[in-house]
Amino acid sequence: MTGVSLRSLLFAALALVAATLFVIDYSQPRQRILPVSVGLAVTAVGTTFLLLRSWNMRIARLRRLAESLPGGALRDRPAGEKTLDLLERSLAGVAIEVHKLLDQMNFESARRDAILSGMTEGVLAVDHELRVTFCNPAFLKAIGFRGTKFEGLSLLELARDPELLDLLREVLSAGEPRQLHFKLLAANARTFDVHATPLATASGPGAIAILHDTTDLERLEQIRKDFVANVSHELRTPLAGIIGYADTLLDGALGDAENNLKFIEVIRTNAMRLASLASDLLVLSELESGADGEQELISIPEVVDAVFATVESEARLREVCLIRDEIDSVYVRGSRLRLEQALLNVVANAVKFNRPGGEVRVSAGQNQDQQVVIAVADTGVGIASQDLARIFERFYRVDKARSRQVGGTGLGLSIVKHVMERMHGAVNVESQLGKGSTFALLLPGAPAPDGNLTS
Ligand SMILES: Nc1ncnc2c1ncn2[C@@H]1O[C@H](COP(=O)(O)OP(=O)(O)OP(=O)(O)O)[C@@H](O)[C@H]1O
Ligand SMILES: [Mg+2]
Repeated sequence: MTGVSLRSLLFAALALVAATLFVIDYSQPRQRILPVSVGLAVTAVGTTFLLLRSWNMRIARLRRLAESLPGGALRDRPAGEKTLDLLERSLAGVAIEVHKLLDQMNFESARRDAILSGMTEGVLAVDHELRVTFCNPAFLKAIGFRGTKFEGLSLLELARDPELLDLLREVLSAGEPRQLHFKLLAANARTFDVHATPLATASGPGAIAILHDTTDLERLEQIRKDFVANVSHELRTPLAGIIGYADTLLDGALGDAENNLKFIEVIRTNAMRLASLASDLLVLSELESGADGEQELISIPEVVDAVFATVESEARLREVCLIRDEIDSVYVRGSRLRLEQALLNVVANAVKFNRPGGEVRVSAGQNQDQQVVIAVADTGVGIASQDLARIFERFYRVDKARSRQVGGTGLGLSIVKHVMERMHGAVNVESQLGKGSTFALLLPGAPAPDGNLTS
């Protein structure tokens, strides 16, 4: 109700009182109680007036408050529009804005959760008492936490790591960022780079730490270092032979008709070893760079023939019998050159790590899973079970002296493994020490040129 209409109501009430007082016949006793009634009525009207005025003032204050809220400001305010209507319009605007803000907040919170959950880095936030206020799934996974409730737990209870605790304590007391590289025992001794920084929260000071798992990087770095050390070592031995014998020849042995050819032969053997090492390294680097080579339909019997032709003379020299068992006419798809190289490495090993009078049998066919299987079985020295898992590692040789004597650097089987992986296949080995080994190359079969899977 507006101030003007309230005033009109009051004047009307006063006018009524005056009129009543004027028309009363004071000689009539019954009419004498009339002034009392009128007085009461006037008091009631006055009280109502005061109440309505205070109510009006409150509504105006509410309207001003509503207009100061986001979305509550009114652009048009037609003359004569009631305060309550204005308030209602303001509140409607505020309601729309509040819904918008809530939607935005929900979106932001979902986005933040998605980012933190998707991060590979662990995120941990603690309060000033080192109690966990937040952490993401990567952190929980890193520390191997299997529970569901972590909020409010003390950091020592959760991560059980004094180094991490000390770091965050230091950040809280110094109020400055700190870094740490450490081994988290709770996470199977994986290593982490931690960046911790102070974090002011509504409930007081805290700290936040980002943990970056460096274990795999460090392992790769170690592999790289070992690789370089191995290559240098493998280069040094044949190079020393070449330089030594070349010096001997230059120092006069060139005229020694009995030995000079022998010395040149040693130089040639060492140079061949270097060439083979360089070519194996090149193949490995090509395979690791993801190059697949030319893709073609490969006939397995043709590959076996090519490999036999290459190792025949070596087998004869070592008195090892090469046996071409049942070879089905099966096909695979991929790089023929690489497959030949892989099979050659396996067959050459079977010949190399054999004994005079021993044999090497090669068979090929298809198994129930439509995979092409090329099996190479030898009656050689065999491989101890503890070495079986490692023979596919680069430069791994069971008997280094024997390998060097028969001319091996330990790269052959790692090339085989890579070739099989690139061709979506696998290599398996079974062996009995002293009795022999069987290597099986498994590859997805491809239809023969006439359209059949086997022919
Ligand atoms: N058929 C086999 N019988 C016994 N031991 C084997 C056989 N094949 C491989 N090995 C063992 O596995 C090791 C690794 O084989 P790999 O072919 O990688 O290296 P290498 O033959 O020594 O050298 P490279 O092949 O580079 O000339 C060999 O040194 C040998 O000890
Ligand atoms: Mg080999």
